[in-house]
This record gives sequence, structure tokens and C-alpha cells, in this order.
Amino acid sequence: MNSSKKILVTGGAGFIGSHVVKRFIKNYPNYHIVNLDALTYAGNLENLKEIESASNYTFEKGDINNVDFINNLFKKYNFDAVIHLAAESHVDRSILGPRKTIETNIVGTLNLLIAAQNSWKDNIEGKLFYHVSTDEVYGSLGDTGFFVEETPYDPRSPYSASKAASDHLVRAYWHTYDLPILISNCSNNYGSFQFPEKLIPLFIHNVKNNKELPVYGDGKYTRDWLWVEDHASAIETIFHKGKMGETYNIGGNNEWKNIDLIHLLCDSMDEILGRNPGASRELITFVKDRPGHDRRYAIDATKLKNDLNWEPSITFEKGLKNTIQWYLENEEWLDNVTSGEYKKYYEKQYEGR
Ligand code: NAD
Ligand code: TYD
Repeated sequence: MNSSKKILVTGGAGFIGSHVVKRFIKNYPNYHIVNLDALTYAGNLENLKEIESASNYTFEKGDINNVDFINNLFKKYNFDAVIHLAAESHVDRSILGPRKTIETNIVGTLNLLIAAQNSWKDNIEGKLFYHVSTDEVYGSLGDTGFFVEETPYDPRSPYSASKAASDHLVRAYWHTYDLPILISNCSNNYGSFQFPEKLIPLFIHNVKNNKELPVYGDGKYTRDWLWVEDHASAIETIFHKGKMGETYNIGGNNEWKNIDLIHLLCDSMDEILGRNPGASRELITFVKDRPGHDRRYAIDATKLKNDLNWEPSITFEKGLKNTIQWYLENEEWLDNVTSGEYKKYYEKQYEGR
């Protein structure tokens, strides 16, 4: 299991990818990790500072939409495996302008599949294309029930539709070309290094700066939250122990209505910042809903637990507190990523809501 391998990680400068890269670099000195990332607004090499000079790490700046670049990269490195995380990952951006999301998430994935298939076709033994996906492909749940691996796909946003399409393509490569693949579909992640356009880092940032907290619709939308380090550890487990061609759901068994989570976040921040109890809740502002907003996501991760013996490691209360502390202690990181292009996005996304 620990023999030497050359692994291409795509999107390794993003939120989840950077945690995956750091984990693999530290845990597997025999592996060589090549991190391919286009460094879009969401990619940040600061996320990887602690391993950037490791001898088993190489960074390649490049775009998965660039076919020649991808093909040459496979020739240059002769990879044994791919862990594919690069994506346009934000639902609201996919609604504002779906084209980029579709290009990167669908065509970009196809480009990688074609390159892997070409590179491996004469010796497919021991190779692996691991596609990292989301629970959003399953659509929206009512008050009860859970997503299982067999739940029919029913995506409702350009983002989830693009991830669904990429999952189908990856599975098609397994059935049609015998490409060894694995797919995991994970619930909402939170933790350090998440770009502050997503709910938890955005609201920590806004509470800290006494800015309004824009809650979409009635705030009773439900998400199943998983600490990003637990997602990275699940990816590590599935990468090593997953059965070829299979899909695994990853979740935290940790459902929260947005408004309850926001109350917990506000109260924790009041405590940490020494504010009067209830002060940060005053910043909550209900705004116009997200179009096509999925009501509830909830993952049944029994297969991952029973087959691969994986479970999340920490409680949400503890993880959230650690996460708040991290953002407060890493003001410079937050300030760097919230300048420039992000400011324009923020104004457009929230203007008139
Ligand atoms: P992110 O937006 O933080 O990072 C995406 C990374 O991909 C960035 O570093 C970006 O520069 C890079 N990238 C984007 N377009 C690229 C391109 N054309 N070529 C090369 N690199 C490109 O996203 P994330 O939250 O870390 O998500 C990573 C993956 O996990 C995505 O595939 C996402 O769909 C999936 N996922 C995310 C969550 C979540 O809660 N964030 C949950 C389940 C699954
Ligand atoms: P988000 O972090 O964008 O993840 P996803 O859409 O992939 O679940 O949003 C999480 C939930 O929080 C979702 O129900 C939308 C809601 N939300 C708000 O109410 N206000 C906001 O400003 C944002 C970004 C999200």
C-alpha cells in the first residue's frame, strides 16, 4: 500500500485539495505528489506553505481545460494515480455565470479522463482515477430520508448539474474503457483555508467586521457538515481501500438548519471575542433566496463505515470552535483572499438582496 507512486492531485491549492495534498505529503514519503492548479480566485499557494519545499512535492500551474498542457503533463510524469478535485465549486457563482462551471467541471474532467486513458491503456494494472464529488448531485430531500449511493441523480443548480455530469463521465470510463475509477460524494465541508464566499468562513469574516449576515430565504435550509480534515482522511481511506468502480458517500451525520448553525456561530464568536451575549445575532439579515435552493442534504455514509471502517473524528461544536479560532488567528490570509476580484463578486452577488 505504501509503495512508491506518482500521484496527480488537481485543485490542490484550493480548500479541500490543500488539506489532501498536505496529508499525503506527510503520511506517504514514498509518494510523489504533483499538484496541478490553475490558481483561480479560489486557489492559493499560501494554503500549502508548510509543505512547499518537501522533496516529494511538485507544483504545476496549469488549466485542466488546456488539452495540450494536460496531455504533456501525463507524458512528463507518467502518473500512477489521479485525485481530481479541481472545479468551480461555488453554487452562487455557477448561477451568476454557468459557462465557466460547465467548462471546468465537465470538459476539464473529460480532458483528464482522456489523458489518463491514453497514458495507461497499455498498462492499466494498479492505476487509479479518483474523482472527488459532492452530495449535491442527488438533488434535494424533504424533511426525512438520506442520500445513499443508489439515490438517483437529480441536480438542480448549474454547479450540481456539472458535478453530476462529471460523475457520469467518470463512471462511463469505468464501464466503457475499464479505466480503474473511484468516486466519492461528500456533504458540505468546513474548516481552515476555505474561501470566504461559502457560508461558514463568510459569516465568521462578517461577524468579525460587524457586517450583515445575509441569510437566504427563511434560513431553514439544512446541510450536513463535515470537518475538512475528516473529508481528507476519508479520501485517504477510499484511495487506498476503495473497491474499483465503486462510489462512496462521505458525511458527518451532522445536520444543521442554516439558522441554527448561524446562531451557534454568532454565540461562539460573542464568547471568543468577549462581546455581549446576543450581540452578533443582531447582524442576521434575511435576504432574497438563492434560485433553485436545495432544501435539505443529508448523507447516509453506512457503506463507508461498514466496508472501509471510516468515521468522522470530531464533533461539530469542537470543529466549529477550532475553525473560528483559525480564521481569527489568520487575519492576513483572510485579508489577502478578500481583496481584488473577490470584492467585485461580493458586490454583485449581494447587491439589492
Ligand atoms: P475550491 O473552490 O476551494 O478549490 C478549487 C481549486 O481548483 C482551486 O485551487 C482552483 O484554483 C482550482 N481550479 C479551478 N478551476 C481549475 C482549472 N480549470 N484547472 C486547474 N485548476 C482549477 O473547491 P473545494 O471546496 O476545495 O472543492 C474541491 C472539490 O471537492 C470540488 O471538486 C468540489 O466539487 C468537491 N466538493 C466540495 C465540497 C465543499 O463543501 N467544499 C463538498 C463536496 C465536494
Ligand atoms: P454554501 O456554503 O454556499 O454551500 P452549498 O450551497 O454548497 O450548500 O451554502 C450553505 C448554505 O448556506 C446554503 O443553504 C446556502 C446558505 N447561504 C446563505 O444563507 N447565505 C450566504 O451568504 C451563503 C453563501 C450561503
